[in-house]
Amino acid sequence: MIPLSVPNMCGDELENLRECIDTGWLSTSGKYVEIFEKKMSDFVGSKHAIGCMSGTAALHVSLRLLGVKPQDEVIVPSLTFISPVHAIIYNFASPIFMDCDDYYNLDVSKTMDFIKNETYFENGSTYNKKSKKKITAIIPIHIWGNAVWLEDLIKLCDERNIKVLEDASESVGTFYTEGNYSKKHTGTIGSIGCLSFNANKIMTTGGGGMIITDDDYIAEKAHYLVSQAKDDPLRYIHNEVGYNYRLTNLHAAIGVSQISRLQDFLKRKKDIYKKYVEELNKIDGLEMALLPKYSNNNHWLSILQISKKYPLTTEELIENLNNKGIQVRPVWHLNHLQKHLKHYESYKIEKASKLVNMSICLPSSSNLNEIDLNFVINSLKI
Ligand SMILES: Cc1ncc(COP(=O)(O)O)c(C=O)c1O
Repeated sequence: MIPLSVPNMCGDELENLRECIDTGWLSTSGKYVEIFEKKMSDFVGSKHAIGCMSGTAALHVSLRLLGVKPQDEVIVPSLTFISPVHAIIYNFASPIFMDCDDYYNLDVSKTMDFIKNETYFENGSTYNKKSKKKITAIIPIHIWGNAVWLEDLIKLCDERNIKVLEDASESVGTFYTEGNYSKKHTGTIGSIGCLSFNANKIMTTGGGGMIITDDDYIAEKAHYLVSQAKDDPLRYIHNEVGYNYRLTNLHAAIGVSQISRLQDFLKRKKDIYKKYVEELNKIDGLEMALLPKYSNNNHWLSILQISKKYPLTTEELIENLNNKGIQVRPVWHLNHLQKHLKHYESYKIEKASKLVNMSICLPSSSNLNEIDLNFVINSLKI
């Protein structure tokens, strides 16, 4: 099987892991956690980075850090991996689902219309006209590595005291090339950014995540909450509920090795994407999904769009490629349609459904070789 997106482990991961085992530093203490945090904060350009055991854990804590309370509401796109939606619910808050734009990202202009027309501002907070609940936060998600255009949205959210939590789980390495945020990495613009190092991501720690922020208070509190909110580590005094969410030294040891090769992974992913564009856009009925021109993409996953002109439907094509040993998959089922989430509010979702039906994710691993890449391309020439 040619896999969709798998780890690229051919550096000094094993040596680092062996050192952890030899020295007995396996758990959340140990030098690699801090080394990895420093390397990642230097790479993305954030003041602080706090390692967590997963991107989902990072999102869970981050919403709490931003003041999301039970009964609050949080704006999130419907088209995403489900993790940020679940993180809202872990905090006993409710998602409000939004549509997506041509880049599969949160539709910023529709979201701004929603905030301007469907909410009101009172005593320093924004409330939903329909539910009367407070809207405390919004989670723009940089889907597939595509940067969300944040300038206008951030301005409105600042005016309305809606905190911005960027989910940059899929976009490590993507940065803006235009506008006020030019050169800034995704995840460093909102109050907090969250990253994931799950095994399918551009770089991995096996499982892991990170909270990135420039805010000293948030960083300190994040450390505290992900380490069981320990106020006195000697006597085990805890003054509030914390979590066992800290990244382990073992995971961080892999991360330190992976980040040293991140530039190579980024380059290979870009080359794979370029080759797909060059070869697949020539085929009638196929077109690689558009990417934002205002950013330099990490090309985490390459997305192919299938139109009616192609001889196979999206479903048929997925089956056909899987039968040939090529792992492709459809885009996530929209979250506002999931059985356990259907009852939450959604706002004018139109484009997302259309894009889901016409898109598939293509093999995009940074260790995908030319022979396999050509095989994928030739298999699409029907
Ligand atoms: C958009 C998005 N958010 C959050 C996550 C959660 O990260 P993790 O799997 O590390 O919990 C993922 C992927 O796994 C993701 O794709």
